[in-house]
Amino acid sequence: MEELKVFCPATVANVSCGFDVLGMALATVGDEMIVRKTATEGIKITEITGQELPLETEKNVAGVAGLALLGKSKASCGFEIAIHKKIKPGSGIGSSAASSAGAVWAINQMLGQPFTPLELVHFAMQGEKLASNVAHADNVAPALFGGFTLIRSYTPLDVVQLPVPQELYATVIHPQIEIKTSDSRKILKTGITLETGIKQWGNLGGLIAGLFKEDYELIGRSLEDHVVEPVRSLLIPMFDTIKKAAMTAGALGVGISGSGPSIFALSKGEAIANNVAEAMAGVYQNTDLDFEVHVSGICSTGVKPI
Ligand code: HSE
Repeated sequence: MEELKVFCPATVANVSCGFDVLGMALATVGDEMIVRKTATEGIKITEITGQELPLETEKNVAGVAGLALLGKSKASCGFEIAIHKKIKPGSGIGSSAASSAGAVWAINQMLGQPFTPLELVHFAMQGEKLASNVAHADNVAPALFGGFTLIRSYTPLDVVQLPVPQELYATVIHPQIEIKTSDSRKILKTGITLETGIKQWGNLGGLIAGLFKEDYELIGRSLEDHVVEPVRSLLIPMFDTIKKAAMTAGALGVGISGSGPSIFALSKGEAIANNVAEAMAGVYQNTDLDFEVHVSGICSTGVKPI
């Protein structure tokens, strides 16, 4: 295989109660990437469309993730990468993760799959480290595995794939402001009380049980975040109003997507997810804020050839 074109899904990290450990991939929102094998060793980013991002390999998340993989492989070839960005950086739906995951997945395929999916998560995390100074895996793991993933442990890395209830749909609204993950991590408190911990891990367990039992009500009442949302929601215009509008329109639950500013809702069925999109959009339509809104199923595959 000399060339591979892939879809790299957008992802919602944290999913309210799982800061840094839970994420899910979106089926219809994502980037495209074309990876070509070359005789020259190394990684060359040949083209980026859709966004202004660095072409220098060491400054580009796809480049860095790809180099991490090549550094562990015996390959005597190199790769050229063209990236067609549809996910805006700083949007909160895993822009850097899509590029990092897409690069390592495609290169691994073209080398004959020498690496396991877990090893690919490791390599893609190097892209996240470049983007946000922290090698968090809650975007790259769902981008690579698809569906919902739990990072059970970082050391050693242990990723658990979770089931996706068939009728679950996501609505994501992105107010057109940029919040860098590195900045929105700086404002977080470094400690939590035992009382807060009890609420948070109760919800995380509840959400995971809800996914296994296809219990939409349980999923909904577990979408609570007592740790991060109270702090980060202050950076997001009209967060509480959007949340209320989405819940009134029938959403199971609402939260901040990753480090924001995007806000996500989960709903049972596409029709409700569309109503939720309309309700969320209605809030920003009454303001000067530009926004984008997406309704999507959950991506079951992760990065895939197109
Ligand atoms: N868990 C990370 C954070 C995800 O919330 O900072 C960033 O997309």
